[in-house]
Amino acid sequence: MSVIEKIEKTSLEQELRAHVGRHVDKVFDWDAFPSNKGYPELARAQMRYIGAGGSPKVNDNSTLKPDNFTLSLIYKEVGKYAACHSHEIEESFLMIDGVLTVGWELNGDVVEVRLGPKDMILNAREIGHGFRNDGVEPVLMSVSVDVGKPLPPKYHFHPKDTEAELARNLGAAPGKAQLFDPKNPQELHQIMSKYVVRYNETPTIWTNTGFSRKVYVGAEGIVEGACRKEMLGVPSGVGVKGYVRDCEDAFFVLEGNLTVGWEENGEVCEVELGPRDLVKNPAGRKHWFRNNGAKSVEVWHLVGSAKAENIEFVAD
Ligand SMILES: [Fe+2]
Repeated sequence: MSVIEKIEKTSLEQELRAHVGRHVDKVFDWDAFPSNKGYPELARAQMRYIGAGGSPKVNDNSTLKPDNFTLSLIYKEVGKYAACHSHEIEESFLMIDGVLTVGWELNGDVVEVRLGPKDMILNAREIGHGFRNDGVEPVLMSVSVDVGKPLPPKYHFHPKDTEAELARNLGAAPGKAQLFDPKNPQELHQIMSKYVVRYNETPTIWTNTGFSRKVYVGAEGIVEGACRKEMLGVPSGVGVKGYVRDCEDAFFVLEGNLTVGWEENGEVCEVELGPRDLVKNPAGRKHWFRNNGAKSVEVWHLVGSAKAENIEFVAD
């Protein structure tokens, strides 16, 4: 093998590794949100994987460059909250650990929903949303904004200009917050019912290649988002042959170990991801996945377009 071939071979492997975010290589940032400074009740930590999400720290070189979405983890301790705010674009919260109370505010009404592991809410654009940990254990969630670089959030009820109790209640007068009920005909309950996904109530679609999909956002799920979001289940020994998308996608492993491969000009390389590791596959890059382990894999899968799946997966 010539020196040039050797360099090229190293370079695909290096490129793949440069698109992996390892949980153990990253640190939680307790200073990601300047608007929380001086308000210990708002404290939260962020771990950035793709882009900076709602943080202005877009120049952090430990996070991958975003295209159509961001992905980060947020850690929230018991009793802390995030003040009600809104964005110009959709933003999803996928629960990993704990139970989070997420509240939406519209014209003085506040509706709160409690989300457990693998449940998700897609926060609608321009609707005020905040959250609070009313549980007994810390909350860890994966947050994705459906644009690479969102504008700064617009605060509706921040403690700097709102009475403390009103801010903590996410904009609801004392005792006035309503618990989300999809059967309640009131406008805000009805809007929210289109944006909440319960893992256990979402159909499991088995593909003919032997892995499963639960579509959270996309043609078979919430249709309002700008990016597709799915939970994939990959049983032991199952994998697919290489495929190419016209936009980026990402795998964020929740359980088990997933092997992801890339191919370019006949050269191949693979990497194994464990829980809370991520790989971002750029648009146009041939890639595949396979479960080499004994345990089933569960993967949070994001695609940079909300269009229905158009890949014809082939079993490997
Ligand atoms: Fe937000």
